[in-house]
Parts: sequence; structure tokens; C-alpha cells
Amino acid sequence: MKLANQIGRLFRVGHYWTGFLYYAMVSAFLYFATFIAAASASPAFRNLLVHEQRDSIPDGFVKTAAAPADRVLNLRIALAQTDMAGLEKALFDVSTPGNALYGQHLSKEEVESFVAPSSESVSLVNEWLSSNGITAQTISPAGDWLQFSIPASKANTLLDADFTVFTHPDTGKQFVRTLSYSIPAALKGHVDLVHPTTTFDNPFVHLPFVSTPKAEIAPSNLEGRAVPASCATTVTPACLQALYGIPTTKATQSSNVLGVSGFIDQFANQADLTTFLKNLRPDLASTTKFTLEEIDGGQNSQTASQAGVEANLDIQYTVGIASGVPNVFISVGDNFQDGALEGFLDIINLLLGQSNPPHVLTTSYGQNENTISRALANQLCNAYMQLGARGTSILFASGDGGVSGSQSARCTTFVPTFPSGCPFMTSVGATTGITETSATFSSGGFSNFFGRPSYQSTAVSSYLTALGSTNAGKFNTSGRAFPDVSAQGQNVEIVVGGRTESVAGTSCSSPIFASVIALLNDQLVAAGKSPLGFLNPFLYSAAGAAALNDVTTGSNPGCNTNGFPAKAGWDPVTGLGTPNFAKLKTAIGL
Ligand SMILES: *[C@@H]1O[C@H](CO)[C@@H](O)[C@H](O)[C@H]1NC(C)=O
Repeated sequence: MKLANQIGRLFRVGHYWTGFLYYAMVSAFLYFATFIAAASASPAFRNLLVHEQRDSIPDGFVKTAAAPADRVLNLRIALAQTDMAGLEKALFDVSTPGNALYGQHLSKEEVESFVAPSSESVSLVNEWLSSNGITAQTISPAGDWLQFSIPASKANTLLDADFTVFTHPDTGKQFVRTLSYSIPAALKGHVDLVHPTTTFDNPFVHLPFVSTPKAEIAPSNLEGRAVPASCATTVTPACLQALYGIPTTKATQSSNVLGVSGFIDQFANQADLTTFLKNLRPDLASTTKFTLEEIDGGQNSQTASQAGVEANLDIQYTVGIASGVPNVFISVGDNFQDGALEGFLDIINLLLGQSNPPHVLTTSYGQNENTISRALANQLCNAYMQLGARGTSILFASGDGGVSGSQSARCTTFVPTFPSGCPFMTSVGATTGITETSATFSSGGFSNFFGRPSYQSTAVSSYLTALGSTNAGKFNTSGRAFPDVSAQGQNVEIVVGGRTESVAGTSCSSPIFASVIALLNDQLVAAGKSPLGFLNPFLYSAAGAAALNDVTTGSNPGCNTNGFPAKAGWDPVTGLGTPNFAKLKTAIGL
């Protein structure tokens, strides 16, 4: 009331000095707004308590300097979600074969009803922000994520933080992070986390490694036939069709979309896809296209020299294996972010906002779990829970560093990767050879953040018993174990910038396995059934495990050990094994 009177008076008094008084009015308004807020709201938010902290700077990073005071930080707040235990139960109900609700995936609104923060959380947090002159924007469909931009000096005060520039000398990349931050005591239980703060992005991400260019291997329709000897040294779509019994016939269901994640300016080149199809899938139209979705300023340059190895691999081994399945390449840019993890969240929020998200999403990126705060890992994992409940199968490459993490690195204890430790997604490791054995780089192990989900408890206990004391003390025996499954990951032929090359990495394995799931979904949808959705309860069931080719040899060395040995049944190198299409079809009732 008082404020309105003040402004009204200023306005009336100065009717002939319009210009000046307009500004006077605005500054008066701002002044009083700040004054009132400081007088009423602030005391409630003045008592700050440490919310997240990290004991040390992650390996590979060094402290460079305090963040410049005016450096603008794009911060995000995760509000406490209402009922994730309820959503988890709903996810397992719709994903566990034999459950009365199996296949009855949740709608966008149903998922949001579990996730949306309470109105109390929303108003308290907004009150805190506006008392500091901050207006946040909601960036998730359920309203559980907010975003705003403020200078580092202000962020340091707001969060009692020490935002610092950290450098990763091996790559030259720099990130502004703080080793600790606080939130008002009044917001405990309402704010889950603030990001980016204590999480350090992996500056490498993980990309497939490229070996020497290869001569092309002639294609042929090998489904159901013996696998030719050439597949031992060069893997093509025809090899995978023969090895796994993947059909060459085209899918028919236009609603059954396969999504491919693209990050860090990795562009999927259409001309290279055409060359790849001409060379290796001449039975498919070489003009077959993928569609494009772009978020956060993501692009997809078609300049040949900018074709990305990862993006081309992912597109060529989805379009080229999941014959006829509509394919969407989702290119995530780097607006509002300085690392990959914001993009990891944005792509899921994009899909959660759609009424018909893709039935399968494959992602060949990840990073070491120990670089991510527990709270952020949990939030991202909850995002996979939400999308899984909607009926999307989420597959990720497990990583390429054996037991040492996403890339081969020095270590004394084993390094689990993220998001493979999240129990609500499917982690894909790598194999090689015609008689399949483990690829030595296949990351696998046990999460330190997420406990073992019940769907894998029998399989993992059996493995641990068989393992005995090997590697004791180097991994967390109670953690969620990964990978879940595997597929070929070495000597995989792709086309990049017009040239044929051979690549290796679990980056190959995830799109291959995802394509198998997409083809199974095509047949399910054609039969009037639901797509498979979150796969793990099915994969670890007796019927699911029996429909995979168990890989029992090899290991994934790292950290000065031989890593984990593959064994009969599930193992932390190749998971439950590689796909057998015919058996999978039977196991899902087709
Ligand atoms: C081991 O994993 C559990 C989750 O199952 C976790 O709570 C615990 O903190 C982990 N231990 C270590 C040392 O990281």
C-alpha cells in the first residue's frame, strides 16, 4: 500500500517531466521492492547450512583462480520431488513381466503427478530467489527444475560458495565450480541440489577410438546363415544380422521411434549415411534419412569435414540395423551449459515434455561416477525413472576404460561409470570376435551411489560367489552392478567424411543393442502390444536371460589388475550377454 502511494505520488507530481520521472518511478519501485524484501523475506533465509561438498578436487583437475566476480553462471535448482518411491513402484509394475500392469506405461500427466514439487517448495524457493532479486525460469515439464543466471560474486554470497576456475591440463578445458555450497536452513527438504557446483564434468566424455582405415567388406544377406570369417576382423551390419539373427526386413510401425542422443558438437552426416547404406545395406534405400531435433542451440552441420565419428557411428548403426524404424537424432547444444551433464538432463526433459516420446533412446556418452555429486546423479537417475515409466527403453554405453572408468586411467580402486550405476537404465558393454569374448575395454563394475536393485540380486550374487576374493576391497559389493547386456564393439566399419574407417568402443554396442530392441518393439506395436519400455526386469528374468548369448570368456583389465573375469551367467564385463533375436521374440510372446 505504502509503495503504491509513493509511486502514484511521484507519477502525479511529475506529469510534465515524464522522461525523468519514468526512470525515477522505476528506480523507486526497485528500491522499495528490495527494501521490503530485505525487511520481510531475508531473515527467514539468512541461516545458511552446507548442502553439498566435495573433499578434494577430482583427479586431473587443478585450481586456477577465483572465478571473476562478473563471470555469469547459469545455475539450476532441483526442487524436492513429491513421490519418487511411488513412481519407482509404478515403473516396476509396468516393466515387470507377469505383473497385472505390465506394459501399461504412464502418461505424461501421471508421471508429473509423482514428480511435481509441492506448492510449498515452489513458493518458498521462489520467495528466496526474489528476495535476492532473482527470477528463475522453470525448465522441466513437472516444474522440478529451475534455472537462472547470476554473476559469480552474487552466487558466492547467495550460496556461501567459493566459485573457482578449475582447469583440466590434459585437455585445457576449464570449469567454474565450488567445492562446497550452502542453502538456507528453511529450504532443507525443499531444495534437492544446485548445479553446477560440486560436480565436475568429464572433459573427455567418451568417444569411440578409431583404428586404421579399412577396405570395405562386401555386404550380403546373412540373416540366419553362418557368420563369415571376415566378421572376426571387420564388423558390418551383415555380420550383426548373421551373429544375432537380426531381421533384414523393414519395420512397419511409424509410431515406433528410435532416438539417438548427440552431444558436444558431434554432427551426424547424411551423405556419409547414404554412402554407408550403399556400401553395407544396399537392400535399404540409400536415401533413408533420420529426422533431427535440436535443443540448447544444438545443430547438425552437414559439412563433410565436420562429420562426427560418434554421431556417424550412432546413426549408421541405428538406421543401418533397425531397418525401417523412424530415427530421430537429438542434437544437444551448449547454450546454458558448460559441460555435458546439463545436456543429459535437457534431453530427458525434452522427451518427458512430449506426449509420444521415442520408444528407445541410445546414448554413447557418460563419465566417471566419482566426478558427479550424489544428489545430481540421483536426480539424473530419477529422470531416467520418469522416462522409463513412460515406456522408453533407455540404453547407454557402459564406458571404455575397463574397470578404470569411462576411459583408461590410473587408479587404485575401480571406477564405476555414470549413468551405468543408475538402476533405471540399461547399460551396454562390448564384445568382440565371432565366438564372442569380452572386449578388454568394456567398462563394468559396481556403483558407489546406487544400491543393487532386486531384479539383478540373484544374478549378481551368483557372480560374486563365483568370483571369490578376486579384487576384494577394490569395488563396492552392494552397489548396482553393470553392464546389463553387451554387443559387438570392436572393428566396427563406419563411414566418416566419405572415408571408411573402423572404430571400437562400447559406443558401438549401445546403438546395436538399441536397434534390436527397436525391431522387437516394431513387432510388438504391429501386434497391438505395448513397447518393451524399461528393459531390465525382463532381461534379468529367466526368459530374458535365456534369450541372450552368454559370453563367458575374457576380462576388463584396469587399475593394475586383470579386472573382472567374464563367467557363465551375468558378469561385470558383458552383462547377461548379447542378443539372440529369435529367442528374444519368443521370450516377449511374439
Ligand atoms: C557402497 O554402495 C552403497 C550403495 O549400495 C553406498 O551407500 C555406499 O556409500 C557405498 N560405499 C562406498 C565406500 O562408496
